[in-house]
Amino acid sequence: MYKLVLATALLSTAAAQTLETFDGSRTWSETNDPVSSGVAPVRHRRDPHRSPLTAHRPPSPQVMGGLSQATFKISQGTGVFNGTCKIVPSLQAPGFCSAQSEKTHLRASYPDVSKSKGLELVVRSTTPTFKGFKVAFATKHAKSSSRYTPFGTFKAPFALSSGAREQTVFVPFTDFSWDWSPYTGECDTKDPTGVQHHCCGEGDLEQYCPSSKDLAELTGLELWAEGAEGDFHLEVKSIAAVAAPTLRYNKKVDA
Ligand SMILES: *[C@@H]1O[C@H](CO)[C@@H](O)[C@H](O)[C@H]1NC(C)=O
Repeated sequence: MYKLVLATALLSTAAAQTLETFDGSRTWSETNDPVSSGVAPVRHRRDPHRSPLTAHRPPSPQVMGGLSQATFKISQGTGVFNGTCKIVPSLQAPGFCSAQSEKTHLRASYPDVSKSKGLELVVRSTTPTFKGFKVAFATKHAKSSSRYTPFGTFKAPFALSSGAREQTVFVPFTDFSWDWSPYTGECDTKDPTGVQHHCCGEGDLEQYCPSSKDLAELTGLELWAEGAEGDFHLEVKSIAAVAAPTLRYNKKVDA
């Protein structure tokens, strides 16, 4: 029994590569869909990565009026992502909010996580049933899924267990795709323009997965509330790359 516990403890410490603990060493900022800002397109001076993305939704700058909005605040070692995701009238589809670490695009600024199998997030949420939580990471050479996003990111949805207690969520790297829709944030939907997006998979679909090279060259992290309507509140204590889910995780990993 003692041996087993010790082995497990060693395994999980050896395997985890911390990417973010919200200790203030990296700046985070938030972006809301341009409808909410009252001006279009939204310009994110400190993060050029975001402006082309936010500029495309909604298509018409005439549609204004404060819809999706969120704040991301770092306090006492926790990133608090709070807000509401609303229907964008011009699209009849939910808008989005995102929070992102400051990125450089010039160099990898995180450890090489290519030996890991996925991201692990330690979170608490008072809205665990909100369907639109997503996590994404930028890499030096990630392909972009649309002309609105010149710098690509790999994105994946994640679901939470019910209850407001702290929980550990494992998101396998095979759930991430660079080819996510700028309309839904999902990798399996077809845009109104006719473009079909693709998720990571086997064979031909491997081209949509993060490669070992991508995982060695992370340049930023993002949290999203996208593609679902409603209020959301997510407190994130840490984001790490892990070789296997720790025993505390409580979501089934897709086989
Ligand atoms: C969290 O977001 C909701 C929905 O937008 C808002 O009503 C509430 O005031 C926000 N709370 C904080 C602490 O910002």
